Amino acid sequence: MIDWNDIHSKGVEYYQIPKSHLNFILESVPLNGHLLDVGCGKGELVSILCSKGYVVTGLDISIEAVSSAKKNVPNAKFECIDAETFELVDKYNVVFLNLVLQFLKEKYSFLEKIKKVSEKVVVVVPVLIEGVTHDEKSLRIGMDKVHLDNLLNKIFSQKIVLFESFHADTNTYMTGYLLS
Ligand SMILES: C[S@@+](CC[C@H](N)C(=O)[O-])C[C@H]1O[C@@H](n2cnc3c(N)ncnc32)[C@H](O)[C@@H]1O
Repeated sequence: MIDWNDIHSKGVEYYQIPKSHLNFILESVPLNGHLLDVGCGKGELVSILCSKGYVVTGLDISIEAVSSAKKNVPNAKFECIDAETFELVDKYNVVFLNLVLQFLKEKYSFLEKIKKVSEKVVVVVPVLIEGVTHDEKSLRIGMDKVHLDNLLNKIFSQKIVLFESFHADTNTYMTGYLLS
């Protein structure tokens, strides 16, 4: 089991959605729109979204991450929870899942739950590449592309691939989807 508090206390930084893609995702979202970042870490994405004028909530399982996020982005709302077991009641214009889906146990039921409360869902995951010999780290964090596409196609009727770019650090393709 991953010790997220330990990881966050070491100050690790993660891949963030490129600005141009963020602008595209938010194109049709009204400025008072409500956004949710699941697995928000220390609030990097929440901070960017707040600065654009949106009402933003961040959820994370790590108390270490949430404490830092609250200090980093005082005008956002944060909760320390396990997103898999938490009941979502509010509705959102966009839910962001930036590098978190790969760590969840019940991916299908989690995505179904998210779809019910959001117009759009953004999923960013490291994807394993066919024909490449993967090391232990990429196999631990990467998702199989066929499995991922099947999962997303079952739940969402629209799927736009925002980007697929090679990520040398993890030996995977960082892949971003916009789903509805
Ligand atoms: C790879 S980090 C990405 C952090 C952040 N999204 C970013 O891009 O900077 C994964 C994050 O998901 C959180 N996480 C993992 N499992 C979770 C769960 N079941 N519920 C909520 N957050 C979770 C971790 O604490 C961690 O902050």
